[in-house]
Amino acid sequence: MRNTLSLPRNALCSVTGAQVWEGDGTFEKIIKAAPEQRTEMMSEEERRKRELEKLRECVERCKRCPLHAMRKNVVVGEGSAVAELMMIGEAPGYNEDLQGRPFVGKAGKVLDSLLQSIGLDRASVYICNVLKCRPPKNREPSKHEIAQCTPFLDEQISIIKPRIIATLGNYSMQYIFSKYNIPISKISEIHGSVYKVSTLEGSIFIVPLYHPAVAVYNIKMMDVLLEDFKVIQMIMMNNKNRLISAKKSIK
Ligand code: URA
Repeated sequence: MRNTLSLPRNALCSVTGAQVWEGDGTFEKIIKAAPEQRTEMMSEEERRKRELEKLRECVERCKRCPLHAMRKNVVVGEGSAVAELMMIGEAPGYNEDLQGRPFVGKAGKVLDSLLQSIGLDRASVYICNVLKCRPPKNREPSKHEIAQCTPFLDEQISIIKPRIIATLGNYSMQYIFSKYNIPISKISEIHGSVYKVSTLEGSIFIVPLYHPAVAVYNIKMMDVLLEDFKVIQMIMMNNKNRLISAKKSIK
């Protein structure tokens, strides 16, 4: 059992520590912008797409760790170059390696329905992983692989500049928490909490979530994930009060 009062002190949506989401979504901004500003924003999207394409070429050439020798395809990531929300999983599995796309297997189906539950689709978010190549037999990523591969993830973050990063599972949480100097806790204690970090590019909201695969093995976890995803929706809807009440409903 958990309530908001037991959240870590730096969790955004603890009852006492609630802060206001100041940013609105890029899409919304583009729609509202004056025509000449809109053109500028569109070209920003084009610029980011080109940067992401260059990054893909680097990943395709990468031989920094032994996983390159076993891959069928690199799985760099996919989605909108101007996404407000970036979701970061662990590593490609069998299907992802075959198709070169993230989250296309059973866990991907769960992720799709979770996104749908908050009115989002894959095209409006950016989805990637800590590792860009599949570890054999889906074993856990090694420290060496993570160290060699995460500069690519760092680059994705700096190109896309997401306002919200949702980590999917432990490896992703651990990497992102240490990158932004957030003390690491157990995912069972902090899933669905919101951390606000300041960067040179502005604030980022970090939401640690269970990996969608947990619902493949235990269907009851779907309710937990659905509840946690509502928190992302609340941040995007720029509604502090609803964000707090969403957290209060999690027991
Ligand atoms: N699990 C992950 O963490 N990433 C994928 O792309 C697929 C399954």
